[in-house]
Amino acid sequence: MITELMRQEIDEILARYPAGRQRSGILPALYVIQREYGYCPVQAQDELADILGIAPAEVGAVVGFYTMLHEQPKAEYHIEVCTNVPCMLRGGKQCLHDFENALGIHHGEKTADDQFALDHMECLGSCGTAPMAAITDQKTGQIRYFENLDSAEDIEKVITLLKSGNGFRSLERWTPQADPNSEGAADGPYRTGGMEPRYLMARLNQRDSHKIDTYEADGGYETARRVLSEVAPADMVDQIKASGIRGRGGAGFPTGVKWGFLPQGVYPRYLVVNADESEPGTFKDRIVMEYDPHQLLEGIILSCHAIESEKAFIYIRGEYYFAYVRLQEAIAEATAKGYLGDNIFGSGKKLDLVLHRGAGAYECGEETAQLSSLEGYRGQPRLKPPFPAVEGLYAKPTIVNNVESICNVTHVMRYGVDWYKQFGAERSPGMRIFCLSGNVKRPGLYELPHATPLNELVYEYGGGPEDDNHEIKAIVPGGLSMKLLTPDQFDTPLDFESVAAAGSLLGSAGVIAIDARTTMVEVARRTLSFYREESCGKCTPCREGTAWLEKILLRIEEGQGLGRDLELMEYIAQNIAGKSFCPFGEASVWGLQSNLLKFRSEFTAQVERANPDEVGPVLPIRPAYRPNTHEPSGLRASAFAPTGETIVLHDDLATGDD
Ligand code: FES
Repeated sequence: MITELMRQEIDEILARYPAGRQRSGILPALYVIQREYGYCPVQAQDELADILGIAPAEVGAVVGFYTMLHEQPKAEYHIEVCTNVPCMLRGGKQCLHDFENALGIHHGEKTADDQFALDHMECLGSCGTAPMAAITDQKTGQIRYFENLDSAEDIEKVITLLKSGNGFRSLERWTPQADPNSEGAADGPYRTGGMEPRYLMARLNQRDSHKIDTYEADGGYETARRVLSEVAPADMVDQIKASGIRGRGGAGFPTGVKWGFLPQGVYPRYLVVNADESEPGTFKDRIVMEYDPHQLLEGIILSCHAIESEKAFIYIRGEYYFAYVRLQEAIAEATAKGYLGDNIFGSGKKLDLVLHRGAGAYECGEETAQLSSLEGYRGQPRLKPPFPAVEGLYAKPTIVNNVESICNVTHVMRYGVDWYKQFGAERSPGMRIFCLSGNVKRPGLYELPHATPLNELVYEYGGGPEDDNHEIKAIVPGGLSMKLLTPDQFDTPLDFESVAAAGSLLGSAGVIAIDARTTMVEVARRTLSFYREESCGKCTPCREGTAWLEKILLRIEEGQGLGRDLELMEYIAQNIAGKSFCPFGEASVWGLQSNLLKFRSEFTAQVERANPDEVGPVLPIRPAYRPNTHEPSGLRASAFAPTGETIVLHDDLATGDD
């Protein structure tokens, strides 16, 4: 089943990984199989297990974990419409309905001729051009994004284009304004706001911005060439520490400090670039990789020099197919010029860069889960400590940095520490790419200094409410996980400290505006649906708790909620936050907790309007109530039964054997 040609390709893939670590090639090898057959047949999985020297069940476990790997054949075109919160706010649900009507099927189904399958999907990193759909051509494995799908006519255009066979002539973003038969995008890659100065986004709208010639004409790679010959690694680490660059992936940890954790004299060391951008509301790294990939590559060369690494990996999320292709091309260009490989820039230094594609798992954005995935296992987190800097990929010292963080390294080394620190706040220096989505007139990417006030971003750059008749009532400042800010907080400066002082976190700088047309119950329910879907399943509070919360929110939405559901949700959220294995479990309830606190009246009104007599549905009680010391005062076990009956405590649960 794995043909000779496929075997040759798989062998080439496995050779990219260090000796004895061929299991790392399991995802790219499965992509080879899926491209050939449209799915991963069991026989081919078994043959791959033989090649890798592992049990067939281990390959099956990987296939079953990642949503982009299929155990059954799909239709010729797999259409996935994003309905996550930022898209939902801009018509994502209507977009899905329009596809259903155009194809005559419901989501989750495929057409009788096997040409189209339709599904709804979690955030695809295109929130600023919502509503959108990603469409996979199963024959080639290529994925193309279709954006700004605002009407039924737009959807008809997409279907017509696909039926014509021209839908995949280009992988560039497609918008309804484009000629359906054109090969390129309708306009520049992204709305960038037009503000100056710009560094990280300086080239995004230039013609051929992704080509090495464009990058070099702008002074690209000069910094890496100079630094490799003139600056000692330890001095460069000191400069990055002095600059105060903070991680742009979400946690905001100082990049130079992280580099300083590497143990002295232990080699090999690895750099893993976290390009698994999956936090809903975040879409900056995708655009940088698609339209300025050499900026990232130069940052990688510089970072590897500083941490004395000769092998780096870019872990890119599987859905970012176009960015993956652009990076492949950029790596080939840089290698041909001698900027990657042996003796880079004639410095005698080596750098081997491996582009590794994930396969659909939000959890793989967490650094230890990403390392598990990169080693060829399910993307589940590991216990810390040891931290990756001490014991990471293949148990070797490893630095995991976000794409935008690495891009900043290039600019600090080019223009200097003082230049970098002139922007932003003292403890949050530098420029930042803000991703603005939701109910504003001009969603998009905006490169602004840290500490720019939230209302300036939303009302001046973003143009204010999408519809002048409906005020913005809440803003998520740092990606969907973060706590909500209300209008009295819209003057908050967007830096790490100020947003934290306002009770939320700056996170990935995914700013989502929500106006009065959407109920906060729906926002909460869709958020929890996402976390239930994306929980990696490793720890009980996250796996069971998110599903339980989603069920409660669904029944409130469906008019069967009870007043005491609000207390029940708070109780469950308390038992997830701080009690999960990794930060994602904890973050799954932050939004809900702030929502219940700040918009309680909307929840209460929805319950009272729909269910004035508090007649509860007969639902199975799950999970069974388990007494512990965290029970909020005034609540008893009986308070948690949706039907009002007293819950029986099971011995096995009471003793903690779950
Ligand atoms: Fe739809 Fe991000 S692309 S929410």
